[in-house]
Amino acid sequence: MSGQPGHTPIVVAEPRLMRDTILAACRAGRRIGFVPTMGALHAGHASLVEQAAAECDDVVVSIFVNPKQFGPREDLARYPRTLPADLALVGAKGATWVFVPEPSTAYPAGHATSVVVAAPAADFEGAIRPGHFAGVATVVCWLFNVVPADVAYFGAKDWQQTVVVRRMVADLAIPIAIEVCPTIREPDGLAMSSRNAYLSPEDRRRAVALHEGLTSAAERWQAGDAVAVVEKAIRAALRSRDIPVDYAQVVDTDTLLPPRPGAAAVALVAGRVGNTRLLDNIFLPPRP
Ligand code: PAJ
Repeated sequence: MSGQPGHTPIVVAEPRLMRDTILAACRAGRRIGFVPTMGALHAGHASLVEQAAAECDDVVVSIFVNPKQFGPREDLARYPRTLPADLALVGAKGATWVFVPEPSTAYPAGHATSVVVAAPAADFEGAIRPGHFAGVATVVCWLFNVVPADVAYFGAKDWQQTVVVRRMVADLAIPIAIEVCPTIREPDGLAMSSRNAYLSPEDRRRAVALHEGLTSAAERWQAGDAVAVVEKAIRAALRSRDIPVDYAQVVDTDTLLPPRPGAAAVALVAGRVGNTRLLDNIFLPPRP
């Protein structure tokens, strides 16, 4: 039953069977890791599965393109779907089970319940994509009920999402630990993302501006510059490659409010590269 690298994972579509399988493994004393995804998996997702496999006895990966977290004018219909390759990848990284629910089981007829996280979901992606984080929190809450794992793994790449999920887990007393794993990048620094597949070759070259801006922001931060100067460094990098900025802001890592003196912060950036919105962030360690 344990996930051996190279094994074909067991695919489960039925929520009840998924839950019973996990509960049986828990009763057998196994530590279960969970990696929720929307598929179109890349090395960033693979690193989450690897970390889960290193720390747990069994790993569940969910693959579900969650319609509720896409806005009406967003890319739900064209979101990349690559299930056979995804199964091979997570099998190679040690997943035991892959949960692939049908939308009709996540959202049964008459579905009327939504999980709304207020403060940390209000700004940034929440302001630009109304309803997005309600969609994320609702599906992640449902997934945590169907996959009662010991620990769930999320990428630092989507920093605001990690804050929203941790808030929800704390507020609803959901018995699962949340672990945040480092962002995996392309050799030029671009954060890996399923949406990078949308970029034209020219846009792909310009997209490196997000990481460049964040890197110089981190330098300015370490040099002791004011927050406004740190943020300006990000905007300048995007402007130099004609990328419109949705936001470029330094905030507290846990609350996303203005940074507290002497505490760690995170610089968040989102920009529009051609028709594709890209997000990235960088950790800013505490400074005197
Ligand atoms: P998805 O975009 O598929 O991402 C799944 C997980 O992979 C998230 O935790 C995300 O932060 C992480 N991830 C993506 N790119 C990464 C990278 N370059 N390095 C490290 N981790 C990376 O996020 C979602 O799906 C959905 O919102 C979901 C939580 C599954 C709910 O539907």
